[in-house]
Amino acid sequence: MNLKDKVAIVTGSGRGIGREIALKLASGGCNITLVDVDENTLSQTAKDIEVKGVKVLTVKADVTSVVDTERIADETVKSFGKIDILVNNAGITRDNLIMRMKEDEWDRVLAINLKGTFNCTKAVSRYMMKERSGRIVNIASVIGIGGNVGQANYAASKAGVIAFTKSAAKEFAPRNINVNAIAPGFIQTAMTEVLKDDIKAKMMERIPLQRLGTVQDVANAVMFFVSEESNYITGQTLVVDGGMIM
Ligand SMILES: NC(=O)c1ccc[n+]([C@@H]2O[C@H](COP(=O)([O-])OP(=O)(O)OC[C@H]3O[C@@H](n4cnc5c(N)ncnc54)[C@H](O)[C@@H]3O)[C@@H](O)[C@H]2O)c1
Repeated sequence: MNLKDKVAIVTGSGRGIGREIALKLASGGCNITLVDVDENTLSQTAKDIEVKGVKVLTVKADVTSVVDTERIADETVKSFGKIDILVNNAGITRDNLIMRMKEDEWDRVLAINLKGTFNCTKAVSRYMMKERSGRIVNIASVIGIGGNVGQANYAASKAGVIAFTKSAAKEFAPRNINVNAIAPGFIQTAMTEVLKDDIKAKMMERIPLQRLGTVQDVANAVMFFVSEESNYITGQTLVVDGGMIM
């Protein structure tokens, strides 16, 4: 896919799904702003992207901070002159049963997954509106569609991301900015590695394609949403889960 001279911001791109999305966009010729709270993983990802011959900017930033997210957008425009693509990927889990869930576990998950998505979208929107062009891809989750025991905070945050995606799509459509979401299922990353084997086995039973998803599976869906092939698609949530929920 040709993304030559395009500019993308990918949040939470130090590792996992975000890192793979950044690598994939870079393979298409896209210049990348990598964003993460973790400086060490950021610099490693930057090195791996630079060898692809595109320009990379790293911004250590917390998506929950309005000041930080404005800085991400401003520094990207200062370095590359514009913003074509935003991928809101930064996200966390703090699982607990509702009865036991601490206020901080609820607040932190909502702050990063949902408010972080709003902060970054708002920060890039003024630049994209001016250009009358843009693509925003929000990484939600199947848990935001079906819910899950022990993940009320995460489910609420991701359902919020899906609803936010639809509102942003309606608001930005007149300016030719498409906003879509991806709802991954059970993807092999550090986030899912911590799950106990019996829980993993139970989840596998529910996947018709009989394998866990890979970070590449999610990155491929992002490539579709930033490509011209999806020009007439906005406000949608694409489920990437091997058929787990239908
Ligand atoms: N792994 C899965 O199975 C799965 C399934 C569905 C959805 N998702 C979603 O995909 C996204 C990526 O998940 P992953 O599995 O790669 O997770 P991960 O934990 O491997 O990576 C998340 C990255 O986000 C960064 N981050 C965390 N808080 C941040 C903040 N406040 N500001 C900036 N960066 C921050 C982390 O440092 C990390 O590098 C998340 O939104 C997650 O909810 C993952």
